[in-house]
Amino acid sequence: MLPQMMLRPVVAIALSILAVFPLDSAFAEYGDIILNKTAEAMRDAEVDDVVFPHWFHRIRFRCSVCHEDIFRLKAGENEISMAIITEKKEMCGVCHNGLIAWEPLECERCHALEPGWSPGVIQHSVKGVSKVDLLLGKVGTKAKPYSKFMEIASGWHPLALSKSGLPLDKYGLVDWAKAVKEKIVQPLWSLDPEVKETEHRIRDNDILFVAKGASMPDVLFPHGIHSYWLECKICHETKGGAIFKDELGANNITMMDIGKGKWCSRCHDKTAFPISDCMRCHNHPKGTPLGKNVLVREAKNP
Ligand code: HEC
Ligand code: HEC
Ligand code: HEC
Ligand code: HEC
Ligand code: HEC
Ligand code: HEC
Repeated sequence: MLPQMMLRPVVAIALSILAVFPLDSAFAEYGDIILNKTAEAMRDAEVDDVVFPHWFHRIRFRCSVCHEDIFRLKAGENEISMAIITEKKEMCGVCHNGLIAWEPLECERCHALEPGWSPGVIQHSVKGVSKVDLLLGKVGTKAKPYSKFMEIASGWHPLALSKSGLPLDKYGLVDWAKAVKEKIVQPLWSLDPEVKETEHRIRDNDILFVAKGASMPDVLFPHGIHSYWLECKICHETKGGAIFKDELGANNITMMDIGKGKWCSRCHDKTAFPISDCMRCHNHPKGTPLGKNVLVREAKNP
């Protein structure tokens, strides 16, 4: 396996944090995203920043319901305002209009986070906690949360968790692949009741990424579970530039770039399982037989 030192420092740090992070606080914030581009106007109106809980929504909807017809797949790229939500009924207002979900009357339900946070996805909010405390695992409890974020999140998430009995992975994060394979949740593909499940295209093959290095297991990329959650165009015609060209071997993907937030980590580490879970991607030991429907993609020369 690759020594930690070879990874980007940020990946290595994430790994060491995960090793000591208490599980309940780790999953409490999985995939939440802070929206505060309009901080100035929000301060004038005396409301806090907005927290969007991704996984509260994905229990009900697959990614394609929102991406990218309603929201572009990049933090900070969507210009959201109250006029858009309440008058135009776009963005959050597509659903938060009293029909699909509650109307935006109680401000604090969305404007839930005290200002001072950076926008984007939060996995572990460590604001106000010293690095030493973090490494020692002293990061608060549900009764005495270390951050406002954890307090809010423990209101939504464990409730959703205990009610739905969602399966967890080894980090205590929700195992979304298992949750849908076992039909524990059956999120909608479309808000339009006329759209039938059969109109939804699934590409049921796997792509074997032959990883450089003799000891690193290869990566079997399942097109199936990805196209269950995501429409083809989210990856292959992403607004602002495709994440992946839809041609075998056409993308020069390296672990270094994945560590920098490109390719697979456009989603993994943010709203899908984290990059530190190496073997969940490097899931195919070299030389073991391949199932059917596998396309082999040879490693490019380094
Ligand atoms: C109910 C709507 C909704 C659903 C469903 C949804 N998202 Fe999002 N997603 C958002 C919003 C809102 C943002 C934030 C956009 C912004 O900051 O401008 C976002 C942002 C993102 C980002 C950008 C993160 C970054 O750091 O750039 C990714 C990646 C993402 N979503 C992936 C997913 C995946 C994968 C799924 C399904 C498993 C999903 N989303 C389901 C609404 C949704
Ligand atoms: C595709 C439809 C859809 C979109 C788009 C959507 N939501 Fe939701 N949202 C829901 C549904 C459904 C619920 C659950 C409502 C319920 O439990 O009554 C929900 C729940 C929530 C919750 C959970 C907390 C609580 O008190 O129930 C928050 C916070 C929230 N939405 C914020 C947002 C924000 C902010 C946006 C826009 C950035 C947004 N939502 C966009 C459908 C949507
Ligand atoms: C469904 C979730 C939701 C609810 C409920 C909600 N907001 Fe917002 N609000 C947002 C989002 C999302 C933004 C954009 C945040 C950003 O990107 O900076 C926003 C932005 C704002 C802004 C700054 C931009 C603008 O439109 O001027 C103000 C002011 C604001 N909200 C006030 C309120 C008030 C007051 C209430 C209660 C009456 C409220 N909001 C309820 C989601 C919500
Ligand atoms: C999560 C992102 C993602 C989604 C969603 C996705 N793909 Fe792909 N696709 C990939 C990756 C990664 C590759 C491999 C590219 C490479 O080899 O460099 C690929 C390769 C392909 C290829 C060439 C190899 C092959 O399978 O024949 C085609 C064609 C393709 N995709 C079509 C589709 C279609 C059709 C859908 C929707 C049903 C889809 N993809 C959904 C990521 C995705
Ligand atoms: C557009 C978002 C997106 C991109 C890009 C993406 N994934 Fe995923 N991936 C998901 C989602 C969503 C799931 C469902 C599980 C979850 O959410 O944790 C998933 C699941 C998986 C699984 C299944 C795990 C299991 O337990 O069954 C593997 C393996 C995987 N991804 C590998 C990859 C690899 C390798 C790449 C890059 C070549 C990649 N993914 C790119 C969103 C994405
Ligand atoms: C989301 C999926 C995913 C996860 C998680 C992941 N990798 Fe990778 N990794 C890949 C892909 C895709 C490649 C590219 C294979 C190719 O085509 O060369 C790769 C390549 C590699 C390579 C070969 C060298 C290179 O840069 O291409 C090494 C070594 C590696 N990964 C180590 C790791 C380690 C260590 C971890 C855990 C910290 C990890 N990977 C986690 C998807 C992943």
